[in-house]
Amino acid sequence: MALYLVTGGCGFIGSHLAAALAARGDRLRVLDDLSTGSLDNLLPGAELVQGDVADAALVRDAMQGVAGCFHLAAIASVERGVQDWLGTHRVNLTGTIAVMDAARERRVPVVYASSAAVYGDQAVLPITEDAPKRPLSAYGADKLGCEQQALVAGHVHGIPTLGLRFFNVFGPRQDPRSPYSGVISIFCDRLSRGEPVTVFGDGAQTRDFVYVADVVAALLAGMQAASVEAPVLNVCTGRATSVVELGRTIAAACGVAADIRHAPPRAGEIRHSLGNPAQARALLGLGEPARLREGLDQVVAWLRDGRPGLARQRALEAQLS
Ligand SMILES: NC(=O)c1ccc[n+]([C@@H]2O[C@H](COP(=O)([O-])OP(=O)(O)OC[C@H]3O[C@@H](n4cnc5c(N)ncnc54)[C@H](O)[C@@H]3O)[C@@H](O)[C@H]2O)c1
Repeated sequence: MALYLVTGGCGFIGSHLAAALAARGDRLRVLDDLSTGSLDNLLPGAELVQGDVADAALVRDAMQGVAGCFHLAAIASVERGVQDWLGTHRVNLTGTIAVMDAARERRVPVVYASSAAVYGDQAVLPITEDAPKRPLSAYGADKLGCEQQALVAGHVHGIPTLGLRFFNVFGPRQDPRSPYSGVISIFCDRLSRGEPVTVFGDGAQTRDFVYVADVVAALLAGMQAASVEAPVLNVCTGRATSVVELGRTIAAACGVAADIRHAPPRAGEIRHSLGNPAQARALLGLGEPARLREGLDQVVAWLRDGRPGLARQRALEAQLS
């Protein structure tokens, strides 16, 4: 029974990781400032250190006695990076250095969330890990900075790390305002109530939607793959889904007709994003990812249950058993 530190453990991906660690019999310490995360997502029985991941002393204390750290805390918003460039930089990059610095003393392995945003707009698809990095946002630039600092962590300080470049993660407990797959929550919500959905442009733009359980599998396997070489892997499915196809699949999952309307295209939107999952599958021994429809069924069921957080979901399950 090992103790793990999960930064951002009250957020969307962090709460799913927490549930998986607990199911495995591990203990959990969560560091979260609850800015976008919620106490209702805190795994019952987990220790909470409430505060800022860029607070070096706090992170050092939180790192005491842990077997590994999953670092997910970040301001996961391109828009926030535009409005508050320095503030988001402090959380997204300084916060990561604070985590790696705290891991120094006992060389605690760190598995951290990077992002497909490091790639920007790529002409060659699917995107492999060695594609040129051309971030188009402060958020993407800071995630690339995390990867560079992980190299320093390994080469200078001997800290094993693994970076995971998540593509468009989706699943229950995702905030509909998420820039990644908030569209899924919004489409599910509207279509299940019989309301139309709006796509920008022709709706032929594609994304690589990866179900949160597959992201958790990569995080868990990643702890064993962390090394001083600071490897970085894509976490994606290798399947492209157009926004129109997404709308139709969600309508089918909700059992309603797809009422899809079109609005003018959004300026600067990336047309296609598709990752190559081969390296991660080989290195982490991952199985076939969930089909889009399987994941969507889970999101629809979660919406029907009234969007419970992890804590409320556990309480509901306990009542039923
Ligand atoms: N969701 C995706 O599709 C996606 C894609 C690529 C990368 N990522 C990355 O995965 C990680 C998790 O994302 P998510 O979708 O679960 O987002 P989320 O917003 O649900 O979770 C982030 C968590 O970090 C916490 N946090 C934010 N600032 C903090 C601070 N200063 N100190 C301590 N805690 C803080 C929030 O309260 C929240 O609980 C992030 O690093 C994000 O950049 C997510």
